Amino acid sequence: MKAFVLERYGKGRPLRMTEVPTPDLHDDEVLVEVHAAAVNLLDSKIRDGEFKLILPYRMPLVLGHDVAGVVVKVGPRVRQFKLGDEVYARPDDFRIGTFAQFVPVKEASLALKPAGLTMEEAASIPLVGLTAWQALVAKAKLTTGQRIFIQAGSGGVGTFAIQLAKHLGATVATTTSAANVELVKRLGADVVIDYKTQHFEEILRDYDVVLNSQDGKTLAKSLGVLRSGGKLISISGPPDPAFGKDIAAPAFVRGVMWLLSAGVRRKARGRGIDYSFLFMKANGSQLREITRLIEAGAIRPVIDRVFPFESTNDALAYVESGRAKGKVVIKVH
Ligand SMILES: NC(=O)c1ccc[n+]([C@@H]2O[C@H](COP(=O)([O-])OP(=O)(O)OC[C@H]3O[C@@H](n4cnc5c(N)ncnc54)[C@H](OP(=O)(O)O)[C@@H]3O)[C@@H](O)[C@H]2O)c1
Repeated sequence: MKAFVLERYGKGRPLRMTEVPTPDLHDDEVLVEVHAAAVNLLDSKIRDGEFKLILPYRMPLVLGHDVAGVVVKVGPRVRQFKLGDEVYARPDDFRIGTFAQFVPVKEASLALKPAGLTMEEAASIPLVGLTAWQALVAKAKLTTGQRIFIQAGSGGVGTFAIQLAKHLGATVATTTSAANVELVKRLGADVVIDYKTQHFEEILRDYDVVLNSQDGKTLAKSLGVLRSGGKLISISGPPDPAFGKDIAAPAFVRGVMWLLSAGVRRKARGRGIDYSFLFMKANGSQLREITRLIEAGAIRPVIDRVFPFESTNDALAYVESGRAKGKVVIKVH
């Protein structure tokens, strides 16, 4: 099959399109013919070597964490999917590789594609949708009447998280630049802050939840907008010891996580705020919940650009520019 392969770690290193063997199928997996794959910053960060401690991948590696496509082979232990099913997924860590013509996906991580979505639209959903779900529903337990500050509302995670938070009945504040104000308002944001001309920490007070996706300075300022008892959930670091335990990281890696997060954990504790790092996981049953919301019209995909398969490196570069409005997708089939 054709795939975009990372031969060794390197900052900005281009992926090489080449022929590789179709991966072997495990008994609990289906083989998906990839019709579309979405690009995530995680792909660039892995390529650059930033995730070596958390996700120690062996080279050569096919990147790609989002897929929509058709089931073309079914493992003997698979019960819920059959040949020809249209599906979507965020494949499990260490089984990634959607920048390719085929990818095996574990049954437990897969869901049927939402009716009415194109393959490109479906591929744009799993990683960011599951991130928002695991932050807002599983961790924050966000409920009606609560107030949440979602940073970078115009990005891949932000465009989904705003819609999910509104569906859950919360009031949403977000940051973006002037060009994207209308977009985030259309998605349901109640308070929109232009981060280039305004300071969110001077505007927001007593929020219940912050979804942090930006740098350490933004994380520190976010503490000031939360009420005592509020939750600060960061998807951009620093990883905390609970996460190290969760992924069964070696002791020295857990030590590094303890050190990196010591400052924010101490400040949060002092204000009665719960700090946690989230690294999203593949999850087919949560993806089915997301399917329900999409089919009910509560959430719709936001796609900025679709690139042809041959232009996968350009798609990565576009995402790395930091200017994407919603998701960037690669059309493979
Ligand atoms: N831990 C996890 O499980 C997990 C999962 C998903 C993503 N992430 C991380 O979360 C971060 C966001 O991911 P993403 O996919 O949503 O990114 P993205 O789609 O690339 O974000 C691009 C958007 O960010 C906005 N933006 C840039 N700088 C900003 C700032 N200072 N303040 C507010 N908005 C700003 C841009 O709007 P303008 O053009 O208007 O500036 C643009 O629309 C990344 O670091 C990613 O690696 C982590």
